[in-house]
Amino acid sequence: MKIIITGATGFLGTALCQSLEKQGHELVRLNSKNCDLRYQDALNPFNEKRYDQIYHLAAWTQAGDFCIHHPGEQWIINQQINTNVLAWWQKHQPQAKMICMGTSCAYDPDLELVEKNYLVGKPIESLFTYAMTKRMLYAGLLALNKQFGLQYLCLVPSTLYGAGYHTDGRQMHFIFDLIRKIIRGKINGEPVILWGDGYQRRELVFINDFIKIMLYLAEHCHNEIINIGAGEEFTIRHFAQQISEHVGYDYEAIEFDTARYVGAKSKCLEIQKLRELMPNLNLTPIENGLGETINWFWSKKENFIK
Ligand SMILES: NC(=O)c1ccc[n+]([C@@H]2O[C@H](COP(=O)([O-])OP(=O)(O)OC[C@H]3O[C@@H](n4cnc5c(N)ncnc54)[C@H](OP(=O)(O)O)[C@@H]3O)[C@@H](O)[C@H]2O)c1
Repeated sequence: MKIIITGATGFLGTALCQSLEKQGHELVRLNSKNCDLRYQDALNPFNEKRYDQIYHLAAWTQAGDFCIHHPGEQWIINQQINTNVLAWWQKHQPQAKMICMGTSCAYDPDLELVEKNYLVGKPIESLFTYAMTKRMLYAGLLALNKQFGLQYLCLVPSTLYGAGYHTDGRQMHFIFDLIRKIIRGKINGEPVILWGDGYQRRELVFINDFIKIMLYLAEHCHNEIINIGAGEEFTIRHFAQQISEHVGYDYEAIEFDTARYVGAKSKCLEIQKLRELMPNLNLTPIENGLGETINWFWSKKENFIK
């Protein structure tokens, strides 16, 4: 197949492209340098060729408290990116199936995190703008399907983890930040201070599992929104203990800063729909995925240790 991928240099995009390439597909890999999607004509060089699939992964965001400090820019940039990609799809590539990334933050934390609630209620305040741009992306898919019959898939993952994450100093998703802090504690003797009381619960999806699911659903499922979660969540303390054991750090030395921002208390996606679509779904156990992720981080430790 001929496949075009936005966000191809990101954490997910890099891993996805490796898998698609192994399957022998012809890929066009886009990023902010070779195709800045804030600009309306950015995709013009790709008008003539006909693509079978478009994976739209590009988004302008970071983890931690980044969304709190950049709501205006996030609204403008992500709306530009999504509008330009969807408009190009409708005008030049209507035969292509569009596979887009949603976010679990789009859900109202007071409602069940089930697909029918994706556009219902209000996302958590700290992630409101980012979440609303993802809701608008889904609204765009619905609208273009309704009026022009275009085919889409909208995947809503929990936090992804695995080897290959950024170590360039940007704000990291909690699990990578946790690994980084504990490795620094172990090697530099720096105090390990975690945000919140450590009892907030989080769900993780191993990136290799996510890609297998994504490729399967891209082939077999049309015009749906589907949660991709692990079906279980653990406390931050649990993750911290596992990482400490793996790197040989004293877990009891970890401090908790209850004054810091931690987001939702719990976040676990309802994945009944996914289980029905993939009844033989076999996910990597958290210990194995975490072990692989920590080993990869350890191998890159010179990037984040003084
Ligand atoms: N990672 C997760 O846990 C997670 C969870 C839920 C949803 N998602 C969604 O999954 C997608 C991929 O996530 P990720 O973790 O791989 O993100 P990421 O590592 O931050 O990568 C973002 C990608 O978007 C590109 N990009 C940013 N601004 C752009 C612009 N103006 N024009 C063109 N490309 C631009 C970046 O290009 P450069 O490399 O050139 O900057 C990069 O390739 C995103 O839509 C995200 O919202 C991720």
